[in-house]
Amino acid sequence: MLTELNRLRITKISEAERASPTVKTFTFQDTLCSEATPGQFAMVWIPGVDEVPMSLSTIGPNGRASITVADVGEATHALHQKRAGEILGIRGPYGNGFTPAHGNALLVGGGTGLAPLAPLSEELPTLHGRVTFVAGAKTQRELLFLDRIMTGLSRSNGKVFATTEDGSYGIKGLATEVAEQLLEKERFDMIYTCGPEEMMYKVFVLAEEYKTPIQASLERLMRCAIGICGSCVIGGFRVCKDGPVFSGTQLRAVQEEFGRFMRTRAGKEGPIHDSR
Ligand SMILES: Cc1cc2nc3c(=O)[nH]c(=O)nc-3n(C[C@H](O)[C@H](O)[C@H](O)COP(=O)(O)OP(=O)(O)OC[C@H]3O[C@@H](n4cnc5c(N)ncnc54)[C@H](O)[C@@H]3O)c2cc1C
Ligand code: FES
Repeated sequence: MLTELNRLRITKISEAERASPTVKTFTFQDTLCSEATPGQFAMVWIPGVDEVPMSLSTIGPNGRASITVADVGEATHALHQKRAGEILGIRGPYGNGFTPAHGNALLVGGGTGLAPLAPLSEELPTLHGRVTFVAGAKTQRELLFLDRIMTGLSRSNGKVFATTEDGSYGIKGLATEVAEQLLEKERFDMIYTCGPEEMMYKVFVLAEEYKTPIQASLERLMRCAIGICGSCVIGGFRVCKDGPVFSGTQLRAVQEEFGRFMRTRAGKEGPIHDSR
């Protein structure tokens, strides 16, 4: 099974759909990815260009999976030019994924950080708790997965709050501001977050303040994805192997780095790269 995970599997894109002006969702057939845990990621090879890590934004059914990709650089731009019928290489799924906890859940996501939270929100209602989802973006056009999240959570009486920075949809402001208001009023048993690191850092600070357990999915430069090359280190952890989802205890241990800097390709300290 491990060998199969690490083998580069060639698959055809079955659908390429625009999700926002700068984001596209690509669906493909891959049995291993279709059985992944929400929060796990695939290494996606764009032939002749590069291989990049991408969270799985849909997981199954029928052997299918999707990735939802922001066009931010060379590899993602090349991927955006691909159409249904063209090929990709897939390794993985890798990483730990989120660990669903019993009780009331608060999900806080922004931008393409909503990609791993969308399938998670579809799993959590089976755990007998209330699910509250705060989904943020800069503008309405960049707000991803909203219909899907609302439809999924309406079946379980979950609540969805959408925020946009320019006020073009939902509540004007940041997802973290709504998260703070919710934490002031209600007790949650777990916070799950993914998005720009500045946002996740604020969510982590809130989790500390309100003494609420947290799971945050981090992003770092990745090469091997199997714990060998060291490109993805944060503190004493390798994001590809030990993460990408980290607990509050682990985030506390990497506070010097988390939300402050990330390693560049040369291994030096560089600014936080927020492709989310
Ligand atoms: C676990 C995981 C899951 C991810 N899931 C998604 C997802 O669901 N959707 C999505 O759109 N993206 C996701 N990403 C991010 C995605 O992998 C990157 O955006 C992608 O690799 C960028 O590749 P590129 O060649 O297009 O851009 P590049 O050309 O590599 O980079 C674009 C710009 O960012 C700068 N840059 C890149 N990395 C760093 C760094 N470490 N430090 C400082 N600057 C840097 C580059 O210099 C360049 O200016 C995920 C990343 C990880 C680790
Ligand atoms: S990407 Fe190589 S150790 Fe994580």
